[in-house]
Amino acid sequence: MDKIIIFDTTLRDGEQAPGASLDIDEKIEIAKQLEKLGVDVIEAGFPVTSPADFEAVRRIAHEVTDSVVCGLTHANADAIDRTWGAIKDAKKSRIHVFLSSSDIHIEHQLHKTRDQVLDLSVAMVTRAKSYCDDVEFSPMDSTRTEPEFLYRILEAVINAGATTVNIPDTVGYAMPREFGALIDSIFKNVPNIDKAVVSVHCHNDLGFAVANSLVAVNRGARQIECTINGIGERAGNAALEEIVMAVNTRKDVYNLETGIDTTQIYRTSRMVSDFTGFLVQPNKAIVGGNAFRHESGIHQDGVIKERATYEIMSPADIGLTVNSLVLGKHSGRHAFKNRLLELGYKLDDDDLNRAFAAFKDVADKKKEIDDRDIEALVADELRAVSEIYHLEHVQVCCGEPAVPTASVKLSGPDGELLEGASVGTGPVDAIYKAISQLVPVPNELTEFSVKSVTEGIDAIGEVTIKIESDDRTYIGRGASTDIIVASAKAYLNALNRLISVKNRS
Ligand code: KIV
Ligand code: ZN
Repeated sequence: MDKIIIFDTTLRDGEQAPGASLDIDEKIEIAKQLEKLGVDVIEAGFPVTSPADFEAVRRIAHEVTDSVVCGLTHANADAIDRTWGAIKDAKKSRIHVFLSSSDIHIEHQLHKTRDQVLDLSVAMVTRAKSYCDDVEFSPMDSTRTEPEFLYRILEAVINAGATTVNIPDTVGYAMPREFGALIDSIFKNVPNIDKAVVSVHCHNDLGFAVANSLVAVNRGARQIECTINGIGERAGNAALEEIVMAVNTRKDVYNLETGIDTTQIYRTSRMVSDFTGFLVQPNKAIVGGNAFRHESGIHQDGVIKERATYEIMSPADIGLTVNSLVLGKHSGRHAFKNRLLELGYKLDDDDLNRAFAAFKDVADKKKEIDDRDIEALVADELRAVSEIYHLEHVQVCCGEPAVPTASVKLSGPDGELLEGASVGTGPVDAIYKAISQLVPVPNELTEFSVKSVTEGIDAIGEVTIKIESDDRTYIGRGASTDIIVASAKAYLNALNRLISVKNRS
């Protein structure tokens, strides 16, 4: 086989990352974007863990047609039945059954014997197979499993009908050389291994998730499980964008294809970062803000003379095109609309009018507006569509010495005008307190971060916050050339999400 199957688990393992929480609409939007990206399999969730997870997987199964939609399940008859209920309407569906196989898990967590684990694995793969042809089995903690026992389980589940066998490095313990040797030994010692695709699922606890996945490919694995931006349990999973760009850039080493449209990588990375509230570190390979920036004079000089002197990939390969056509305050609605279409946004007339008004507003403050600004503006306007409370006005007075004081005006659910003021330890604290008086929903602010969308003192600032209420995390985002305004918008955005979740339940 000359193709690597890209199995994306952003919506399952990725969403298990502490602090990541996506609502159903966001999951559907990400799933559609993953399909556009060209991933072969979307692990849409773990349906039995909650009614909301079940519903998200069920809806993704209806929306996605090109990629296989996969649901993860425990090795438990009822869980398998219910998982099938969530994915059965997908055009292409897969059931993914997992059960721990290492002694440390079998003894301390499962309280079973190896033989019981083996029998249960076979019985549950057989049950999954009665629903679906495409069945994946994962012996969890494979890299700490006694190899002879691992071979026995793999042989038995393949005989029971598993079409993919996944080798998870669940705790990110393996070293690349060891992991490669394990995959080699599986091919040598599992007599029916040619009847299944060998997959790998590597965690990044020691920073080897991508290296281990690629080494496994060299040894014959043909499915890689990965996530956008590498998010996932603890230190995360192998990053999809790094795997794909490594395979593409080093064709001389791998001589393999993926079905990924790499020009969708940047947009997908941004979407996942925006929706989860996990900022991408600037030096992150492929999608970090600095990945294609050259600071040193020697490097800049080289790149100007010949790009290949210091760049092994082009930003355009991942869809990062800082548009040469920069818009400004004299640009008209038509040019703005065209640029949006080129960026992939089809807005209806109302949304377009609002986005254009916001664009004009920023254009008055900022000389040149590039694609990054436009994307931030549009995201901000689209967030405003479903608002329950809307920010009408915010003003802060602060300084040294001074008592930071904020006054805010909001429009409420019935269009009523609400006004409040508060002092605080700083300007943001004062705003948050003033808003909290008007929208009295108990919550705690747990994270606050601000980053600039572009370079320069006039850049748009994007604020991302997380608030907690009743053990649930809500993300809020806001963008403005004034970070105080962006902070107020971000807080209201999080509160609006909190209120709509509470209203729904
Ligand atoms: O890390 C792991 O072992 C998993 C399995 C469920 C595949 O996520
Ligand atoms: Zn995992």
